[in-house]
Amino acid sequence: MNGNPPRPLTADAFLREETYAATRLPVSLASTLIPDAYTSPEFFELEQQRVFRTSWVAVAGGSQLAGPGDTLVTEVGGQSLILVRTAQGALRAFHNVCRHRGARLLDPGPCHLKRIIKCPYHSWAYDLDGNCLGTPLFDDDSHVPSDQRGIFDMTDVDRFDKSDHGLHQAAVAEWGPLVFVNLDPHAAPLAEQLGDLPERLSGYRMDEWRVARSRTYEIAANYKLIGENFMEYYHLPWVHPGLVKVSPMKAHHRWQGAGMYTGMCTSPIASNSDQGGWLDLPPISRLSENDAVSARFAWVFPSTALSVLPNHLFIMLAHPVDAAHTREETLLLVHQDLAEGPDVEAGIDGLASFWDTVNREDIEIVERVQKGLGSLAYSGGRMCYRFEEPLHRFQNMVIDRMLGIRRVPEGDELYESEMFPQA
Ligand code: FES
Ligand SMILES: [Fe+2]
Repeated sequence: MNGNPPRPLTADAFLREETYAATRLPVSLASTLIPDAYTSPEFFELEQQRVFRTSWVAVAGGSQLAGPGDTLVTEVGGQSLILVRTAQGALRAFHNVCRHRGARLLDPGPCHLKRIIKCPYHSWAYDLDGNCLGTPLFDDDSHVPSDQRGIFDMTDVDRFDKSDHGLHQAAVAEWGPLVFVNLDPHAAPLAEQLGDLPERLSGYRMDEWRVARSRTYEIAANYKLIGENFMEYYHLPWVHPGLVKVSPMKAHHRWQGAGMYTGMCTSPIASNSDQGGWLDLPPISRLSENDAVSARFAWVFPSTALSVLPNHLFIMLAHPVDAAHTREETLLLVHQDLAEGPDVEAGIDGLASFWDTVNREDIEIVERVQKGLGSLAYSGGRMCYRFEEPLHRFQNMVIDRMLGIRRVPEGDELYESEMFPQA
């Protein structure tokens, strides 16, 4: 027995504290989160509402939206959003829906906008701050003869004011290399969610990195399995025979401050092996002694993996598609001052290839877990507290949000420690 309720659960159970009693126990006694949290469409929908529509969610690398007009259409909590950099350098997020009859304005993915967002249906147009400019907007390629345009124009319609019809905005904020959005109109500042993570990583000058490579993976697993796999190194010897050579078990440390993230680090980073490694580029300048020999790994709630090394960053943005599928976008970033040239490109390729190998090993195992969780005989397992405190921390953050509890977890007193504290 592990204390979790028998399966399958009905949707009303997902909003009751007692459903999670076994995961609420201290980590040394706790069981893993109910398996239905990874398999149930009803849980997925509630989680979209309660976790993804109330949290700051990382959606892109800032350098992907660096120039005026750079645009990305993405989804958070099942809602399509337009992110755009204005001519003044501000970043804006808009719901991707026309204020007239509700047409979707832009297709998913990156694009570049010159000055306006124009609806393909009746040509209502908005500037990059979301203001409604014309209803419709006639421009040089409009097919309506100029003497007929008045009949289309909404400007003189009774009680119609364009200023009431701008695009619906969402909150957007940047930290370091990441762009976050929050659909909650009453959201607390991003800084509250991140806790002490920006301070812990300040030596890496986190806003000076640019995306050098990206790759997308379609994964047949719930996004939480990707996160939970990222935040423990218990599986290293069996899943990553290459990685464990450059990231040996004994080099791992707990690295947990206050905030909605889980943290660990490896120190010292070992040299590359014949299967590659992390040292294919030179380190950035002015790192502290500790930062210069450490790799930091943070799962930033709810869905982002951030790996920070002395010479590169690797980011995984997990976009939940449904309970059993995730689209994972990975970004490899290098410092803006890194010289250009064939050696550097080869180094970046080497890093990208190493991460790709590690990631494919992880994907294979998390997809296997997803399949296993389909077994109704399994209602959760006992946590291995020495390695799995970060999972316990993360799962309790998810439970908090599912139950409507706003709480930012505290951190350890020690900046860094050898092993998870004994209970
Ligand atoms: S729906 Fe967009 S202009 Fe009509
Ligand atoms: Fe792994």
